[in-house]
Amino acid sequence: LRHGLRHAQFVRAASSDAPRGAAKKLLIKHVTIIGGGLMGAGIAQVAAASGHTVVLVDQSDEILKKSTKGIEESLKRVIKKKFADKPEAGAEFIQKTLKNLTTSTDAASVVHSTDLVIEAIVENLEVKNKLFQTLDKFAPEHTIFASNTSSLQITKMANATTRQDRFGGLHFFNPVPMMKLVEVIKTPMTSQKTFESLVDFSKAVGKSPVSCKDTPGFIVNRLLVPYMMEAVRLFERGDASKEDIDVAMKLGAGYPMGPFELLDYVGLDTSKYIIDGWHSLEPNNPLFAPSPLLNKLVEEKKLGKKTGEGFYKYK
Ligand code: NAI
Repeated sequence: LRHGLRHAQFVRAASSDAPRGAAKKLLIKHVTIIGGGLMGAGIAQVAAASGHTVVLVDQSDEILKKSTKGIEESLKRVIKKKFADKPEAGAEFIQKTLKNLTTSTDAASVVHSTDLVIEAIVENLEVKNKLFQTLDKFAPEHTIFASNTSSLQITKMANATTRQDRFGGLHFFNPVPMMKLVEVIKTPMTSQKTFESLVDFSKAVGKSPVSCKDTPGFIVNRLLVPYMMEAVRLFERGDASKEDIDVAMKLGAGYPMGPFELLDYVGLDTSKYIIDGWHSLEPNNPLFAPSPLLNKLVEEKKLGKKTGEGFYKYK
């Protein structure tokens, strides 16, 4: 009993600390997103639509024009559903969202008053580190840095800066406006305050956050990529046709897409890049072994839906 009492006191002490800790959390209002591609544009859209001030950065005005156009089209699709019988409210929603969004080609000059930087540029550690190193000099002390990387180590990027405690991962899913999940990644150096601020931000943009340590693939890709690779190996061995494997997983496991349809959707180059990266980290892990068939298709530039052919042909 005495032990139980002590435990209860400890719990009370810990929970009475919680509100004080919580009060210190950073309320994220102003966000800078670097990279206006598929992911960055989507993140900019949901952040602006939920009332944040957003600056979207990319390498040229041409790219940014394309990103903004894509966002406008996506918003039109959103209001068709969300404001189906209130077209005026829908038009106002688009107007308000676009008012929250500006663009720039110079990241260093726009981060001076930002609360959060989300990086969604090319999946290359050296390029990402160089960007974070530069921004570290120009962003204010309180600014949190986050990467949307799918396969690189967040810890390595944090170590390129002097703000390891204010650095984490925010892994969104494609297409961002539709997919509800965000994986919030905590490195051993990420402070609790930073982590909680990132969780709150994910909720504020309408997503459901889950948390994971900085391990290869985090949760979703760590389970999904080896599963897709196992499907390729099953097919490579001639155990079943790719069509039957896809039907089996849709009808037998209730998955909305079969593994080969999913590989074609994700892109075979992206999948190969991820598995090769993990294979070099853990060469003896059979789940991360490369596949000759996947490598051959990538070599032939059959990358999936985006090139018109991958495991399947698309018109
Ligand atoms: P993307 O190729 O569509 O967009 C990348 C954008 O970054 C391009 O517009 C490019 O011009 C720009 N960029 C490159 N270097 C830059 C720099 N130094 N400064 C400013 N802009 C720069 O790529 P995507 O698919 O949006 O991926 C971005 C990141 O998100 C990658 O780290 C990727 O691993 C991650 N990710 C991708 C997912 C996907 O399904 N495509 C899902 C989740 C994460």
